[in-house]
Amino acid sequence: MTLLALETSCDETSAAVVRDGKILSNVVSSQIKLHAEYGGVVPELAAREHLKNLLPVAQSALSEAGISPSALDAVAATQGPGLAIALLVGFKAAQAFAFALNKPFIGINHHEAHLYSPWIGQFEKFQPNLSLIVSGGHTMLVLVESELKHRVLGGTIDDAAGECFDKTGKLMGLAYPAGPVIDKLAEQGNPTAYDFPRPLLHDANDDFSFSGLKTSVRYFIRDNPALLDDDKKIRDLCASVQAAIVEVLVKKTIRSAKRNGVRCITASGGVTCNSGLRRELERACQKNGLTLRLAEKNLCTDNAAMIGILAGRKLLANVPPPAFDEEIKPGWALV
Ligand code: KG4
Ligand code: ZN
Repeated sequence: MTLLALETSCDETSAAVVRDGKILSNVVSSQIKLHAEYGGVVPELAAREHLKNLLPVAQSALSEAGISPSALDAVAATQGPGLAIALLVGFKAAQAFAFALNKPFIGINHHEAHLYSPWIGQFEKFQPNLSLIVSGGHTMLVLVESELKHRVLGGTIDDAAGECFDKTGKLMGLAYPAGPVIDKLAEQGNPTAYDFPRPLLHDANDDFSFSGLKTSVRYFIRDNPALLDDDKKIRDLCASVQAAIVEVLVKKTIRSAKRNGVRCITASGGVTCNSGLRRELERACQKNGLTLRLAEKNLCTDNAAMIGILAGRKLLANVPPPAFDEEIKPGWALV
């Protein structure tokens, strides 16, 4: 079964061709530079950029895969959640492709696609797991009882982990998005140099909160402005902020897995690219005898391959495709 998938929920225009669970192509055109000067994603600019890039990106995905449109068995796209005018571009284009080809169309929940991205290419090894989804807009813990059956246990009550990386980095004067920059600088910094709060770490729930940490970094920089003139101190600050975020994510994930009696942890979403998070999750899982499956780095950030793979699994499981007149669901929360 061969599918074309499109993803335009935020600032990545992506198209992928997948066949029988394998990725034949996964083309991602990032708009990061476009939004950098605004310090965040501007929805209308994102939508206009998707309009400009979507067809060339889809064409590249098809030609890289060596697939002609007539060879497609279905077309999939992100249906939500995301920025409404950005979602519309990929969703409507995919519906139109499916309509023209007279093939099924499958609308996919972006977070559900993240949830299964650690299993791409290895679904035969699937086991019940506790999944951490950490991105720029979301931080959540999801119990995946069996394939396509999951329950959200908790999430952030304010800022997401990626947002915390990006906003604290902005306070330090780092380029947007600051997550990858902090990651790089933190590698040469001392994570115990400065002590920042670990919000909700000791609360017996699966929720997260990162806005207090961001505020405490704001006050710390306000009271120590000279620190930003010293490269070593900036590296120490990055390492200390990262250590606080990572400790909360890792400890709460492990605790939740134990509480829910699952032996496997998975992680996905842009922040899962973070080397500190990957390292500490590995260490903690090893110590606790848990299996760890991290999404591959190129599949952590937004991409259409994960959309196509999940759509393929749904077709295989005979989940009925939505009606042709289905619309986008910008606020579609995973439950
Ligand atoms: O999943 P994603 O591409 O888009 C959303 O759905 O939000 O995640 C983007 C987020 C941004 O906040 C970015 O700073 C963060 O992922 N990120 C990282 C790293 N790479 C991306 N955060 C920390 N360390 C990284 N290496
Ligand atoms: Zn995402």
